[in-house]
Amino acid sequence: MTVSSLLHSRQRAAVAGGVGTRTIFAQQALNAELWDVDGKRFIDFAAGIAVNNTGHRNPVVMSAVAEQAERFTHTCFHVAPYEGYVKLAERLNALAPTGTENRTMLVTTGAEAVENAVKIARAYTGRAGIVAFSGAFHGRTMLGMALTGKVMPYKKNFGPFPADIYHAPFPNSYLGISTEDAIAGLERLFSADVDPERIAAFIVEPVQGEGGFNVAPKEFLVCLREIANRHGIVLIADEVQAGMARTGKMFGFEHAAVMPDLVTMAKGLAGGFPLSAVTGKAEIMNSAHPGGLGGTYAGNPLSVAAANAVLDVIESDKLCDRAAEVGRRITERLNAIASRQGMENIGEVRGLGAMVAFELVKDRQSKAAAPQIMNRIVAEAEERGLILLSCGTRLNVIRLLPPLTIEWEILEEGLDILEASIEAGCSSSTASPAA
Ligand SMILES: Cc1ncc(COP(=O)(O)O)c(C=O)c1O
Repeated sequence: MTVSSLLHSRQRAAVAGGVGTRTIFAQQALNAELWDVDGKRFIDFAAGIAVNNTGHRNPVVMSAVAEQAERFTHTCFHVAPYEGYVKLAERLNALAPTGTENRTMLVTTGAEAVENAVKIARAYTGRAGIVAFSGAFHGRTMLGMALTGKVMPYKKNFGPFPADIYHAPFPNSYLGISTEDAIAGLERLFSADVDPERIAAFIVEPVQGEGGFNVAPKEFLVCLREIANRHGIVLIADEVQAGMARTGKMFGFEHAAVMPDLVTMAKGLAGGFPLSAVTGKAEIMNSAHPGGLGGTYAGNPLSVAAANAVLDVIESDKLCDRAAEVGRRITERLNAIASRQGMENIGEVRGLGAMVAFELVKDRQSKAAAPQIMNRIVAEAEERGLILLSCGTRLNVIRLLPPLTIEWEILEEGLDILEASIEAGCSSSTASPAA
């Protein structure tokens, strides 16, 4: 019996069944490699779901955290504030692309950042309604689930959800939903369901993460900005997954040159330490009353030290440029694989920067989802030593999120394993028509 399987039995006996996990029990990790408790090596194309953009145990991040741990690990910012928090706020204020003076607040998880952005937008506008988009993912808290536009596995059995949340269509060129269709859906929502003057905010991901790496077209974000201006609606960019250099720019919204009012960040912000932020226009951010925002652990000193180091690494290692190159190499390889005969189960390769995914279908004409093939490829890759993640509302998309610091030879090795896994996963689909 392996150590992993033993730990799995203990997990089944001790951990709630709703906490879904993969089968790799981690022992150690460095940059883009991870070793399990049985000594098996994996190349990590998941990066803890886009968290370790700066790699596992980045030395700059580790030494900043170690130094902070020598001084203090927690005071609660509301009780005894510390400089690291203020410094990080200054830096995020300078980076967030709102086009004006900003303010920042820190919390701990992506869902908490989303919740706080909604609180702030409601305080600023005096309105309740929020419009999110189909296929969106905004977290697992009650409000996060309500905003999420993907039922399985996030919303099933957990309702009722908070009121005054509406969903409009998100463009999806692969499935024939154009920007015009999506905007027409939003206009229908405003004429049939809710008065736009009751809407406090739009919340939108520049690239839908869990939803399947659907990139928001530039003209869609431009339209949203224009509609938000027309009705006095706050535009929230949820950059929890796409932010922090992942797409080749610091924030995904920058590709469209559209300025949001508020930006939510988490994941890649603190290189593996729990931290999230809301940064946005000072006038909006300052509308919540003193004491209305924060939390016991919000802006933990160790996480803040990590985040300041992450920003240093993004700058010194030119990680925006590197993300673009990582994405280019992955996309080139995937397109080459998809163009080969026998690879018709790859319906589309898409993404932005180092946020690349491919959609698995039964055939390119029907575009019917093939989640079984997706599962087989993920399992084949795991067997061969590569960690992959799935996503997509139809549960048929594989997303690639390696650390942006991945060594080039390890990226190529990972892509070789990916290619072999796709070949194995797709060829057994030809053998079994039931797939
Ligand atoms: C766009 C987006 N928003 C919010 C969240 C929620 O973040 P967390 O899991 O840290 O609460 C996620 C997590 O995947 C996300 O991708």
